[in-house]
Amino acid sequence: MSNQSRPFKEISYSQSPLPPVTLPEGEWLADHLDVGNSPILFGCRTGICGTCLIEIEDVSDGHLADPLPDELEVLDIVAPANPRARLACQLQLTASLKVKYLG
Ligand code: FES
Repeated sequence: MSNQSRPFKEISYSQSPLPPVTLPEGEWLADHLDVGNSPILFGCRTGICGTCLIEIEDVSDGHLADPLPDELEVLDIVAPANPRARLACQLQLTASLKVKYLG
């Protein structure tokens, strides 16, 4: 599917002056976010280190898939008491998100 045929979704950040980033629906955050456009830091980008830990503050204009077992395993270690925690490197932008970087 080409970028032109997909709707766009936005990721915005609380506690950061950086403007939202708009991407075609379904893009992986780890492929597009870096220190120039996001407060989220990445390490492994494969769901192991927990550096990209975020809290989902709002989901709109779509549905965010639940974490897969491998992501849940890491979340149980790095954010056991936060049901809104996710690993940014494991997320596809299937909805517009407002997030807070916790890493
Ligand atoms: S960057 Fe390592 S878990 Fe996301």
